[in-house]
Amino acid sequence: MRMTGLRLRDFRGYKQVMLSPPEGVTVLVGENGAGKTNLLEAVHLCCLGRSHRTANDKEMIRRDQETAAVQLTVERRDGKHEVGVRLFENARRRKIVYVNGKTASRMGELMGHATCVIFSPEDLSLVKDGPQARRRFLDMLLSQQQKAYFYALQTYMSALKQRNALLKQGDLRQLLAWDEQLAAAAAPVVRLRRDACQQLNARAKNHYFYIGGREEETFGMQYRGGLAESSDPAQDMLRGLHTCREEDIRRQSTCFGPHRDEIELTLSGELLKAFGSQGQMRTAALSMKLAAFDLLEASQGEPPLLLLDDVLSELDPDRRRRLIARIGRAQALLTCTDEGDFIGARPACVLRVENGELTQQ
Ligand SMILES: Nc1ncnc2c1ncn2[C@@H]1O[C@H](COP(=O)(O)OP(=O)(O)O)[C@@H](O)[C@H]1O
Ligand SMILES: [Mg+2]
Repeated sequence: MRMTGLRLRDFRGYKQVMLSPPEGVTVLVGENGAGKTNLLEAVHLCCLGRSHRTANDKEMIRRDQETAAVQLTVERRDGKHEVGVRLFENARRRKIVYVNGKTASRMGELMGHATCVIFSPEDLSLVKDGPQARRRFLDMLLSQQQKAYFYALQTYMSALKQRNALLKQGDLRQLLAWDEQLAAAAAPVVRLRRDACQQLNARAKNHYFYIGGREEETFGMQYRGGLAESSDPAQDMLRGLHTCREEDIRRQSTCFGPHRDEIELTLSGELLKAFGSQGQMRTAALSMKLAAFDLLEASQGEPPLLLLDDVLSELDPDRRRRLIARIGRAQALLTCTDEGDFIGARPACVLRVENGELTQQ
């Protein structure tokens, strides 16, 4: 997939900017705070309808402006796809999503047209933070692979919200009806997550060997959760809800189900989070992202866009070389503060980012 145009209007520090990156690697170089990550964030917003670093859309609207707009055009094997998002300061106006020039009625319509994988220093939180960070990683990948996953997850989360509201209100008569709905909605989420984890595990293991360069360390990603082993997740979800009902009523929230899923990360059988060194965790996070990149490439028949935010400077030269070798086939936007950071990346284009403007070097 190749991005041919990116437009921003009143997005973060940018009043108006347009970018037409060539094939290969485009380097964005500039000082801290210059607005490099903002550009990658705009691409991410177009691919997934949300930022990779904030859940608050309004943060992305340029200060003192009412609205922000981003638009991304990609060329794919089946032709041109154009996606866009518009954000509003006014709380009563919901964000608008555009696909090929038309306003989409649902958020999910955006998914899968332009796809990306972003690598950033915060990826370490994939390993260090709680299970939610890893669930989000899976959800982002699966939503980009298939809209059906995004819709299934939406259905599940809204059923969960309803059920929790009933628990809080103490309205237990309706609970049974919601149990059925929640169980039905859980099944596709569990099945798709489980499949994705298996595929990610195989690929991430190889990336870890390669990037880490140590044969004796075996990285593993295991899907864990109440339904991880289930052959009939809908039925078993219903059973799980039944078993936990007393506790749910006491806690006024739902204890069982895929919203509590975990992806367990191990290195040679030991929990990475507890025993891994900083370097091992970093390699693990990188391997997970590379595995996500592989899965997207395999399911779409072409590589997704690559967004590399300040990652090269954190790697030693060997790892840097191996990373670049792994992703050479994709179009990439790569940010760095120092020109020396991208040695070996053979950029097709270098842009300097300064004062909300881009200039070709
Ligand atoms: N909503 C906003 N309006 C105007 N400027 C913003 C907004 N959000 C962030 N910025 C500016 O963007 C800059 C940070 O951009 P960022 O892309 O994170 O920098 P870096 O080049 O270090 O990656 C800061 O200077 C900040 O003031
Ligand atoms: Mg940055």
